[in-house]
Amino acid sequence: MIKRLKFPAWVVIGTAMILIVAGVIQLSGSADLRKSAETVTTISKYPGLDLHTLTKETDHYTYSISQPETEHQVINESIDRWINRETEAFLKEVGKYKEDPDDSMRGHLNIQVETNRMSEHFYSLVFRSYSITGGANGQNKVNVFNLDMSNGRLLELGDVLELDGESIEQIKEIIWEGLQSNHEWQLYVDQTLFNEVMGNPDNWKWSIDNEHFTLYWDEYEIAAGAAGEVELDVPVEKIAVFLKKSIQSYLAMPEEKVRELDAIREREQLKLDPDGKYIALTFDDGPSATVTPKILRALKEHNAKATFFMLGSQAEYYPGLVREVAGAGHEIGNHSGSHPDLSKADAAKILDEIAGTTKRIKDAAGVDVNHFRPPYGAYNEGVIDYMNETGQSIILWSVDSLDWKHRDPDTIRQTILQQASPGAIVLMHDIHPTTADSLPGLLSALEQEGYEFVTVSQLLEWKGQAGVGPYFGSR
Ligand code: NI
Repeated sequence: MIKRLKFPAWVVIGTAMILIVAGVIQLSGSADLRKSAETVTTISKYPGLDLHTLTKETDHYTYSISQPETEHQVINESIDRWINRETEAFLKEVGKYKEDPDDSMRGHLNIQVETNRMSEHFYSLVFRSYSITGGANGQNKVNVFNLDMSNGRLLELGDVLELDGESIEQIKEIIWEGLQSNHEWQLYVDQTLFNEVMGNPDNWKWSIDNEHFTLYWDEYEIAAGAAGEVELDVPVEKIAVFLKKSIQSYLAMPEEKVRELDAIREREQLKLDPDGKYIALTFDDGPSATVTPKILRALKEHNAKATFFMLGSQAEYYPGLVREVAGAGHEIGNHSGSHPDLSKADAAKILDEIAGTTKRIKDAAGVDVNHFRPPYGAYNEGVIDYMNETGQSIILWSVDSLDWKHRDPDTIRQTILQQASPGAIVLMHDIHPTTADSLPGLLSALEQEGYEFVTVSQLLEWKGQAGVGPYFGSR
């Protein structure tokens, strides 16, 4: 049988409950709190993310903070830590001004988030915080969290870029150049501040997508106030050599873009090895309808790059071959229009022979020509002046294959192998079938000796050579 409570017990329990509820209300209602903190949950269009906006209003300050939340504790805690730090710093400032009876201004803190979905499991959250407390100017800050949702962690810079001591310096240099070439900020950015802030890669604020590696800085962090917050997009092509393959697949980068970056990487890495063993093969007097295609095939089989010094007369007849040579990644140089002896030519003749050929090559393949090989290796002061004016170099050779004389593949190969050395420029002609026939054996033999085949431009850059020259290559 259930024993029912009688009148006195009802009164005692009921009164006690009323007192407890009143007490709780009393405790939670601190003196300057008008509205208690409230949490708004939105329906998310971003899978795995919920957004909570926390607002608060008191006599002395207001704040509004938007904070995404994931199901991953590690991610949430990192975001929490930063938001708490910002909030505490703000409240501390508010506390200072609160003691000043003349200051009636209410402080305000606003933290908003820009949500970027980079790929299926990769979000970049860009937080922008604006706070103002008593002083005349508000303060803008920015922070970025890169969320690896498949592993429930934050991406670090080392997940995206190869970071050894040397590469960090090179990446910093690329970023600094980017800031310098941006007219919005170039006048305001400060290199000392930049170096300080960028000293530790853990402190970089960054995001990445298929097109850009983006850097963020607070107002005043690296630039005068007039620049505001600084945000720099660095094209991923510029940092291709440092980009980790894993991040490319994580970003679901289109196949075409991956190939483009691989090609850049190949070129750049070649340029970067000061201890390499390189040789530049050059082919003059073409393009020839019969021989040039055979040479292109042999080079392709060995993934070798070469330089073709073309005659304007030949280029006019075979623009398709000019395009093919350039399209295969080889360099095209100028060998004059009609193969004259330029040692006695006047300025008009020089202009006609060289500029005409450069234009033909440009028209056919859309490439710029930076090197001139004078026919017979003969030139005068007028040629040097013209090279100076147009920023081109005179390229001669250190190894003469004598392929025009021998017309025998074995002899051609032996002649070159006997004289080859790192940094050499080898003279051949893509008009003799025997030259094309010598190539497969020659390329294999040089490869066995550790050589890699580069263009004249790559070779000059590798040797740190710039200007008119003439350049012979090493003997
Ligand atoms: Ni020639």
